[in-house]
Amino acid sequence: MKKITIEGVGSYLPERVVTNDDLAKVVDTSDEWIRTRTGIGERHLAAEGEACSDLAVRAAQRAIRDAGLEPNDIDLLIVATVTPDHVTPSAAVLIQSKLGLRSVPSFDMNAACSGFLYALETARSLLRDERYRHALVVGSEKLSSIVNWEDRGTCVLFGDGAGAFVLGNGVSDLPAVTDGLAGADGSAANLLYVPAGGSAQPASKETVEKHLHTVTMNGKELFKAAVRHMAEATEELLKRNGLTAEDIAWFVPHQANIRIVQTLAQQLNVPMERFVCNIEHTGNTSAASIPIAFAQAKAERRFHKDDRIVLTAFGAGLTWAATLVEW
Ligand code: UT7
Repeated sequence: MKKITIEGVGSYLPERVVTNDDLAKVVDTSDEWIRTRTGIGERHLAAEGEACSDLAVRAAQRAIRDAGLEPNDIDLLIVATVTPDHVTPSAAVLIQSKLGLRSVPSFDMNAACSGFLYALETARSLLRDERYRHALVVGSEKLSSIVNWEDRGTCVLFGDGAGAFVLGNGVSDLPAVTDGLAGADGSAANLLYVPAGGSAQPASKETVEKHLHTVTMNGKELFKAAVRHMAEATEELLKRNGLTAEDIAWFVPHQANIRIVQTLAQQLNVPMERFVCNIEHTGNTSAASIPIAFAQAKAERRFHKDDRIVLTAFGAGLTWAATLVEW
């Protein structure tokens, strides 16, 4: 079977930083509450007029450069997002055009916070086909566009940003994506969703007035589900590769809440030092969170030759996924 390599990675966080103290001026919250309950200290928010595709382009350009390639070399684009610029067309076609890619297959995937790992798994399968040589996989979110800024229970959690990988299938000793799995349980769809704006409840004056175009969330149930599904997905991935958590140098989990990561670490019996966490400075960036954390860890040279790395995510849906990387 072909080896699917990580040829380059990149990330982008918008310039504007909003601290917990900034939010405390707008809603009834405090730096202390947000830090102790979530581990978040600040988040980056996109500028007005800066959309999902703009964030994605910045991260993708960095990933293509990191791979030593040109936009012309990319022959497949997959974008994981829940905040595309428009309902249609996809964010992917806008990104394809803005990056100056050839007229290659370009499409969005919506698996919420698990979206990037779903997209990696899809790209990995397509790259086994000789027709594709370099796939650009992007996670990009402007969550500030679907947050109710009057709801302290959700608005403090999210941030904007993008991350990207260029995957390849050529012969090389680059880091490789060696396995991945994904799952879903739509019976829990109501734990985290945006009620209106889709075909079930199209936009109307009433839906706008009732804030139905923004995130509705059952945080407590999601917390439990997140830990369970990320632990189970990780354990299944390890088991089918004949590995234990001891064999894994680094875990890069979805960055939703530091307490979720701490509980996951306890369940897997792994010290927190082996978890890559950047949530303090990013908040939850949904599909962008794993590639941003991964790109930052790579830039800090935290990964070393032969390290095994597990990426794991959960999200609205529910969806979950886990991916094995060998550095
Ligand atoms: O990527 C997937 C996205 N979502 C998640 O992963 C969310 C998972 N869940 C969580 O991270 C946590 O459940 C939250 C951080 C959302 C909430 O933490 P919690 O420990 O479950 O708090 P809670 O919802 O039980 O709220 C405790 C209290 C409540 O007050 P009362 O009822 O005890 O008086 C809330 O009203 O904290 C209050 N509260 C706040 N207080 C200050 C809720 N939000 C805030 C806030 N500032 N921002």
